[in-house]
Amino acid sequence: MSYEYERVATPASGLRLHLNENTAGCSPAVLEVLSKLTRRDLAAYPDYDAALAACAGRLGVELDSLVLTNGLDEGILAAAIVALRRDSRRGPLEAIVVVPAFDMYAACSDAAGGRVIDVPLLAGFEFPLDNILAAINERTRLVWLTNPNNPTGQSIPRDAIVRIATSATNALVFVDEAYVDFGGATLIGDPVLGQLPHVVVGRTFAKAYGLAGLRAGAVMGNAETIRSLRRVVPPYSINTCAAAALPAAFGDTAYYDWYLDQVAQSKTMLYDRLERLGVTYWKSDANFVLARFTGRGARVAAALATRDVHVRDRSRDPGCADCLRMTAGVVEHTRQLLAALEEVL
Ligand SMILES: Cc1ncc(COP(=O)(O)O)c(C=O)c1O
Repeated sequence: MSYEYERVATPASGLRLHLNENTAGCSPAVLEVLSKLTRRDLAAYPDYDAALAACAGRLGVELDSLVLTNGLDEGILAAAIVALRRDSRRGPLEAIVVVPAFDMYAACSDAAGGRVIDVPLLAGFEFPLDNILAAINERTRLVWLTNPNNPTGQSIPRDAIVRIATSATNALVFVDEAYVDFGGATLIGDPVLGQLPHVVVGRTFAKAYGLAGLRAGAVMGNAETIRSLRRVVPPYSINTCAAAALPAAFGDTAYYDWYLDQVAQSKTMLYDRLERLGVTYWKSDANFVLARFTGRGARVAAALATRDVHVRDRSRDPGCADCLRMTAGVVEHTRQLLAALEEVL
């Protein structure tokens, strides 16, 4: 079996609520910085000192515990390459993916020559701690954990992460915190990280900071482990625009706080309306809500699309029959989604 990222078609117009993007856009401070870049700036290979310092400062980590990546996607690819290099004497090494999950874990593990071991969430999307522990063996070199999870929005209990890391000592444990800004609990700053050098934390600046188009992410952890990732990340993988944008984005904390508040309000609005409409949904620590439209998921998604509201049909994910994932962004956008949903249902 080979795995691929499922690229979705770009809607020609309308409200993009299908890729968990920031529906407000980036901070205006970012555009201002970009507008000041000169022709010479774009002709030079980028320098990362300011971006690294701003990122380390914002996230509260040391410079040597951090690698900037071209989107978190590149951090995921780097981790797969480092962890899954084939050991020709013993056959392919294994990567555990808790499914449903972001496609890139399986795609990159497979591309790096690893064998993907799926461990499904339990009924009600409960975290399958015991099954993960049972799947760990001497060939396990990578465990992908998403906290909070995409597409369910559920968080993983901290103790479960620690138990997995304590059991998978030969593996790199990659805790993907792409959505943690919106309500999850981060491992960054947790003293337990100091005792677990094989655990790394991934972040993206695509979501809360609205920089998906510029491609910027980071992986953090033990300095030695981060050095091994840095060796496979190309030296200039963050472009000049993204490097210039990061300090501006991190500096505009008022904008970041405003957006997080919009997302929180939008989630409450979605919960209230879905409840009133009798639709099952899962409370989310991320910037989206997953809901099950039993027997009519694809039809609801298509009907919303004809009203220029684009949500993601996750029906083909394990355990997600008839489930649609809807981005919770700016309140006004959520109002448009809810009006369309009301009409469709
Ligand atoms: C769980 C998860 N990790 C990583 C990413 C990728 O982030 P980036 O856009 O920074 O590559 C995404 C993107 O949607 C995601 O959902």
